[in-house]
Amino acid sequence: MKILLGISGGIAAYKACELVRQLTTRGHAVRVVATQHALEFVSALTLQTLSGERVRSDLFSLTEESEISHIDLADWADVALIAPATANTIARLASGIADDLLTTVCLATRAPLVVAPAMNVNMYRHPATQENLDRLAKRGVRIVGPDAGELACGWQGEGRLVDPVAIVAAAERAAGRQRLRGEVVLVDAGPTAEPVDPVRVLTNRSSGRMGFAIAEVAAREGAEVLLVAGPVHLPTPHGVERIDVVTAAEMRDAVLASLPRATLVVLAAAVSDYAVREPAGTKLKREGAEQITLELVRNPDILREVVERRSGQVVVGFAAETDDVLANARAKLGRKGCDLIVANDVSRPEIGFDVDRNEVTIVGPGAGDVLEIPMATKHEVAERILERALEVRRS
Ligand code: CTP
Repeated sequence: MKILLGISGGIAAYKACELVRQLTTRGHAVRVVATQHALEFVSALTLQTLSGERVRSDLFSLTEESEISHIDLADWADVALIAPATANTIARLASGIADDLLTTVCLATRAPLVVAPAMNVNMYRHPATQENLDRLAKRGVRIVGPDAGELACGWQGEGRLVDPVAIVAAAERAAGRQRLRGEVVLVDAGPTAEPVDPVRVLTNRSSGRMGFAIAEVAAREGAEVLLVAGPVHLPTPHGVERIDVVTAAEMRDAVLASLPRATLVVLAAAVSDYAVREPAGTKLKREGAEQITLELVRNPDILREVVERRSGQVVVGFAAETDDVLANARAKLGRKGCDLIVANDVSRPEIGFDVDRNEVTIVGPGAGDVLEIPMATKHEVAERILERALEVRRS
């Protein structure tokens, strides 16, 4: 495994030497990135001798950048591990600050991040540090430790760097969970909006959250992710390539253009089934029109087109139903020809649109294959859907 070990400037930096040794003994390739302050506590020569590689610390060093650029370093890593992580480095990571080589590489990498905090107990307990750790954990960063005990500063309490054995295990686990490494996952998400006139649209209540959760989890699991998003108010998940679209026709074009690159396709968008035949060029006026009629034409069925044009990709569709969920999902599986259909009952407000939880049934590849996923967060449901899709792909 290729491990990027970030060392920040606290007294526990001396323990990083033992950590490097354990990592290399277990056969991992280690490249050390130390902050300037870390090198006040531990010498670059020691770390270099133990890792067998030049220690890097300067973002603006011509020699270091010419050997391997900070982006190459970020791309090289299977896992980025920061041990020890000081309160200051944790704060910089939480805020997305990139003011030295270590924090820049952490922003640029798509590898999972493992952080082992070490600091004085009061710094650790400070609400700022706790909030920063929470923010990192919510982004999927694994926090390992700290331990409690006697601290180098003389205080007793939490703040000791955990044992190197636990840190090595956390790093191996984080990289091992990259189950989608090598896969290219194409996701569509959100509603589409079909223009009626320059100010009005036909749309639906999809928030895009389920599809965005799938994109986020896929990226965290090491996949390259292409996300075609309808009009939604959601931030782009880390490491995801996003293509924004508005209408079903635009969504179709974007999905089909990305299809050849994909190995796994998850179509979670709530595509408008119809579009207005001829949207008005100017705003429709109310005066004199007691009643108006909009002529609607059928939109392309993106899922069906994907199934027709695929070359080996596993294709997952969704079925938002209000009644006879399982029967409708089975019928949809047959009609669309995809491998899996993820069905959910949108008539239940607690798992329907714009909420953070979901409960779904995954049907397929055969009509008799039914997997119930009990109520969980959309991220947990996303994990199960991707797991199932991967099983089908590798079967
Ligand atoms: N879908 C699509 N293009 C469309 C309509 C639907 O790609 N024009 C996809 C959705 O993204 C979803 C699946 O097809 O993955 C099922 O969508 P749904 O709206 O439930 O099915 P419909 O085909 O529209 O069938 P119905 O509305 O009759 O239930």
